[in-house]
Amino acid sequence: MSESTQAQDRTFPPPEQLAAGANVGPDVYAEADRDRLAFWEQAARRLSWEREWDQALDWSKPPFAKWFVGGRLNVAYNCVDRHVEAGHGDQVAYHWEGEPGDQRTITYAQLKDEVCRAANALLELGVQVGDRVAIYLPMLPETVIAMLACARIGAVHMVVFGGFSADALASRLDDAGAVLVITADGGYRRGAPSALKPAVDDAVSRSGNVRNVVVVKRTEQDVEWTEGRDLWWDDVVGRQSTEHTAEAFDAEHPLYIMYTSGTTAKPKGILHTSGGYLTQVAYTHWAVFDLKPDTDVFWTAADVGWVTGHSYIVYGPLANRATSVMYEGTPETPHRGRWWDIVDRYGVTILYTAPTVIRTFMKWGEDVPAKADLSSLRVLGSVGEPINPEAWLWYHEHIGHGRCPIVDTWWQTETGAHMITPLPGVSTLVPGSAQTPFPGISAKVVDDEGNELADDSTGLLVLTEPWPSMLRTIWGDDDRYVDTYWSRFGPSTYFAGDGAKKDADGNIWLLGRVDDVMNVSGHRISTTEVESSLVAHPTVAEAAVVGASDPTTGQGIVAFVILRGDAAEKYGAEGAGGELVQTLRNHVARDIGPIAKPRQIMVVQELPKTRSGKIMRRLLRDVAENRELGDVTTLTDSSVMSLIKDKLPSSPSED
Ligand code: PRX
Repeated sequence: MSESTQAQDRTFPPPEQLAAGANVGPDVYAEADRDRLAFWEQAARRLSWEREWDQALDWSKPPFAKWFVGGRLNVAYNCVDRHVEAGHGDQVAYHWEGEPGDQRTITYAQLKDEVCRAANALLELGVQVGDRVAIYLPMLPETVIAMLACARIGAVHMVVFGGFSADALASRLDDAGAVLVITADGGYRRGAPSALKPAVDDAVSRSGNVRNVVVVKRTEQDVEWTEGRDLWWDDVVGRQSTEHTAEAFDAEHPLYIMYTSGTTAKPKGILHTSGGYLTQVAYTHWAVFDLKPDTDVFWTAADVGWVTGHSYIVYGPLANRATSVMYEGTPETPHRGRWWDIVDRYGVTILYTAPTVIRTFMKWGEDVPAKADLSSLRVLGSVGEPINPEAWLWYHEHIGHGRCPIVDTWWQTETGAHMITPLPGVSTLVPGSAQTPFPGISAKVVDDEGNELADDSTGLLVLTEPWPSMLRTIWGDDDRYVDTYWSRFGPSTYFAGDGAKKDADGNIWLLGRVDDVMNVSGHRISTTEVESSLVAHPTVAEAAVVGASDPTTGQGIVAFVILRGDAAEKYGAEGAGGELVQTLRNHVARDIGPIAKPRQIMVVQELPKTRSGKIMRRLLRDVAENRELGDVTTLTDSSVMSLIKDKLPSSPSED
C-alpha cells in the first residue's frame, strides 16, 4: 500500500494531554454559531481598546465592511506596551538568529524602547498619519521595529519582500505613493551578503514621492549615498528618545498594504486595517496554535515580506505576548540541519511552515532532522498550498515524532488570518485536508452558479459572511476590489479563487487556484505578469505561461515563447541551443524577482489557440506535465500541438 493510501485511511485524534489543556475546546464552534458577532466581539476584548466600539459590524454597503465601528486602539501599544505595563518587560519577544550565526535577544521592554525610538525618528522625518512607508528589509529585528513604529504613529506600512526586483519595488512605491523607504545595505542569503540598497536607489530614482531612505547597517557592504536623502538607521533612530506616547486610532484606520499577484500584470495592493485585523490574527494565533505565552516558543519560518510573516511573525504573536524565533536565512546554510539546530537551541514548541519546505526536507532525508533534539515541539503548522498526504505524514512522523498535531491552515493575503483549519485540541486530523471553517467563519463550496454543493462534491470556495481581518479594498482601486472578489456571485459573497472539494464527512480539501495565478513554493505569481515580462524582452513576440505541477515547489513556471523574426533568424528555431532560454529566464528573474524565474522555457513556432484567439493553456499544461493531450478539436490548427510536443526537452532546466 502506498503512503498516500495509508494517509487517506488514517485520522489522528488530538493528543489527550493537549486537548485537556487546550486554549479552545469543542464548544467553540457552537458558541460562534449561536452568535457570530458576539463571538468576534469577545475575541476583540482580548485586546486593549482606548474606546470600545458602538457596533461590531457595519455591512450596510457590501462589499465594504467596517468592523468595531467607533472603537479606537493603537496596534503597537497592544503588541508591546501593554505587556510591559503588565510586568512582562523581561520576557523575550524574539530570539533572532542571523544566517552567519549571530544572535540577538530582544525582550518586550527592549522592543518597546526601540519602537518608540523609531516612531520618534519617523516623526522627525515628517511622516504623518496616513502616510505610506515602504519597508524593503531582510529578516531583521529592525523590520519588526519599523512595522510597529509605523503602526504606532498611524502611518501605513508597505513591506516589499527583499527578493523583489528594483522594477517591482518601483511600481509598488508609485502605486502606494510612499514617502519614505526603510532598507538595509544588504542581508545574508545562502552564505553570502546580498545587496538591497542598489535596488532601492534605482527604484527611488524613478519615484517622485520618496523623500528619505533610511538604511539599516547589516552586511557592511559599500553603498552609494545620496546626501540629504539617505540616512543611517543607527544615526536617525539611535539619537531618539525612548519615550513616545501612543495615540489611539480608529478601528478602521489603515494598518498596511501588502501587494499580491492577481490575474493581471499589475499587482494588487491589499489593504488591511487595525481593529478587526488585530482581533482575528491574535485570536487565531492563540486558538489554532494553542499558544501559551508563558511557556511556548513559537516559530513561523517564513519571511516577514509575505502576509504569513505579517500575521504570524509580527502581529498575532506579539498581541498574544508570545516568545518567537526569527531566522534571517535559508534552511541549507551552512548545512541542511540548520532549522533543526534552531528548534533544539531555542526549544521551539510550535513550528509553522510551508509544504514546499517540508517536501525539500523529505528529499534531503529523515536522517538530517534525526540528528537534532526535537522533543520540545508540540504543535506543527502548514500554510501556503495544499499539503499532500505523503508530506503530511512525513512531517508528522519525522518532525513531530507522532506526537504533534498538524494544523493545515488555509487563508490568503486578502483574508489576513486563518480561515479554514483544524484546531489542535479539538479536531481529529485528516492528512491533506484543511478540514473546517474556523469558528465565526462561513466558508462554502459552490457550483459555477453559486449554489451550495452537497457533501462529497467539487466546486469553488466562497466565503459567505464578512470576517474581521478581511481586506477592506485594493489600494486606490475600489472598482477592482469589487470586480475581483465580489462580482462573480454578488456583492456579499467573496470569491476566493480556489477550487475545493467537500468530502462525505464535510471536510474541505483545497484543490489549488482556478484562475491564472500560479503557486510556486507557496508564493503567488500571476501567469500574466510573467508573460508581460517575457514579451518586454526584445527577442520575444508572444508568450504563454502555465503553472505545471512540480514535486517540490507545488507548481513550476513553464513558458512557451514565440521569437520575433529577427531573433528567430539570429538564434535559430531552438533559441541557440538553450543560450537564449537562459537569457530569458534571467531576464524574468531580474524583472520580477528570482521567485518568478521560469523553471522551463520552450521556444515554439506557434501557440495553440481557439478560433476566437484565446490561448489554450489547458493544452500547454498537458504538455508541460507530460500528459496525453486533452481535447484539441477547438484548436484552429491541431497540428500545432504535435509541433510543440516534438520539441519537448527530456528534462527541465533547474537552478
Ligand atoms: O491557493 C490558496 C493557497 O495560497 C493562496 C493564497 O496565497 P497568498 O495570498 O500568497 O497567501 C499565502 C499564505 C496565507 C490561496 O488562495 N493556500 C494557502 N494556504 C493553503 C492554500 N492552499 C491549500 N491549503 C492551504 N493550507
